[in-house]
Amino acid sequence: MSLKRKIRELQKRREKARKGGGDKAIEKQVSMGKLTARERIIVLLDEDSFNEYDLFVEHDSRDFDMDKKTLHGDGVVIGTGTIYGAPICIFAQDFTVAGGSLGLMHSRKITKIMDHALKMRMPLIGINDSGGARIQEGVNSLAGYGEIFFRNTLASGVIPQISVILGPCAGGAVYSPALTDFVFVVDKISKMFITGPEVIKTVLGEEISMEDLGGAKVHSEITGNAHFFAESELQCFEQIKRLITFIPWNNSRKAKAVEPKEPRKKEYKIDDIVPDNPKQPYDVRDVIRSISDDSDFFEVQERWAANIVIGFGRMDGKTIGFIANQPLVLAGVLDVDSSDKAARFIRYCDAFNIPMVTFVDLPGYLPGVDQEHAGVIRHGAKLLYAYSEATVPKITVILRKAYGGGYIAMNSRHLRADFVFAWPGAEIAVMGPEGAANIIFRREIMAADDPDKVRKQKVKEYKDKFANPYVAAAKGYIDSVIEPQETRNLLLHAIEVSQNKSVGGPKKKHGIPPF
Ligand code: HXC
Repeated sequence: MSLKRKIRELQKRREKARKGGGDKAIEKQVSMGKLTARERIIVLLDEDSFNEYDLFVEHDSRDFDMDKKTLHGDGVVIGTGTIYGAPICIFAQDFTVAGGSLGLMHSRKITKIMDHALKMRMPLIGINDSGGARIQEGVNSLAGYGEIFFRNTLASGVIPQISVILGPCAGGAVYSPALTDFVFVVDKISKMFITGPEVIKTVLGEEISMEDLGGAKVHSEITGNAHFFAESELQCFEQIKRLITFIPWNNSRKAKAVEPKEPRKKEYKIDDIVPDNPKQPYDVRDVIRSISDDSDFFEVQERWAANIVIGFGRMDGKTIGFIANQPLVLAGVLDVDSSDKAARFIRYCDAFNIPMVTFVDLPGYLPGVDQEHAGVIRHGAKLLYAYSEATVPKITVILRKAYGGGYIAMNSRHLRADFVFAWPGAEIAVMGPEGAANIIFRREIMAADDPDKVRKQKVKEYKDKFANPYVAAAKGYIDSVIEPQETRNLLLHAIEVSQNKSVGGPKKKHGIPPF
């Protein structure tokens, strides 16, 4: 056969393989408002940058008539490409081929691209759209998942791992995403669950729809499994591209710096954001925007545990991880979920050389039976652990209240913050003045002819003594009491002088964080 004919044959084979599960299955995929696996990759990556590998891989299972079935590419597309020039390893499960279910060869393709990503120290993006372990392949499918989970863990903290849920991801299909750094979901399209509605009905007799069990809203608002929520696949891909601009390619690099920009000062006036009254709420994201380059803030897990805000911005063109109590939600208290959320983000920033800026304004940890029984001791401790362990530059600004355990947990000097600044309205104390006066002056208040008058006096006495930043400043726990206007310049300076930070701890294999 001439080379020309061989080339034509190759083209035909390629065309057939790229059809995946065939026209009918593709039609079904499209009718559900979904792109196909290859379309997803092409839209996400830089134009003409995608190169596919293992197109001709096929399964070799025999049971349940599988030997009579051809599954093109074994239901997954793998390859390399770029996003804004950043090298990317990618896989996308093809639901049109046996529901994107994971058999042995399917898993080998995924682990091949994962190994490549780790070896080449480049980010890995996995687009998941799968019915889980391929039932016909039995233990081979389970083995395949195990191999993926092991690699997710090995690569954790070395290369960025991003998961996109673009279909009904069941069983093993959700555990790999859960081991990765960021999970993206799309309204009405993403579904994640360990066991689906059918199994739940059979075992427990409970009826629930896929959407209510594990839809995009459930995972971005209730479980916290998802980090980014989008209305459409296209919006989701824009979010991923934006994330890629903020993070480094691997843990031995820093995120790429961009052209520095001043904040949009007319829109975000730093003096006007935080109210004097410590009980009055405000949106702490405005404080972040008032000091970040171009007032840009890319929030992570915006819809879950909104009493703490986490996300990326830039200062002097360099990526910064922001963590801030949100007085707009539950007065910004720390609780089980917000501690969990912030702790994981802090560990991400630390692993990937991203300096952190923390804004503090909180009344402490949330009291209550629910919280105690949900394990606020264990979850709250995650935050202490994450801040204490982090060795990237970490800078704190106390905006207003910093009471009790909240003061310590929010990157205090005692957990080794590099710089701690406080605004003049900061109140740093074991608890709020009302609560404190009621406890330490209880006898005097109760014995008084006019208990209310004495209570008010004692609250004022306590406020005058402790509800300010100067007691902490006198001990050196705060480095400077600053005017709000001075915040950006001081942060820029603190980041600049911290860039060669070098600290070490005792030699150990690894710590044992409270998770
Ligand atoms: C083999 C599967 C499959 C699977 C789907 N298919 N899931 N084949 N193994 N796990 C096939 C279907 O047979 C069908 O093939 C095609 O994919 C499309 O599936 P449909 O059911 O027609 O699609 P849809 O109605 O959209 O429903 C999608 C679904 C459903 C919700 C994902 O297919 C489903 O419930 N699948 C099983 C999910 C599950 O329980 N997985 C857990 C596996 S155990 P044809 O040929 O008809 O087109 C597991 C353990 C790992 O993962 C644990 C690790 C910790």
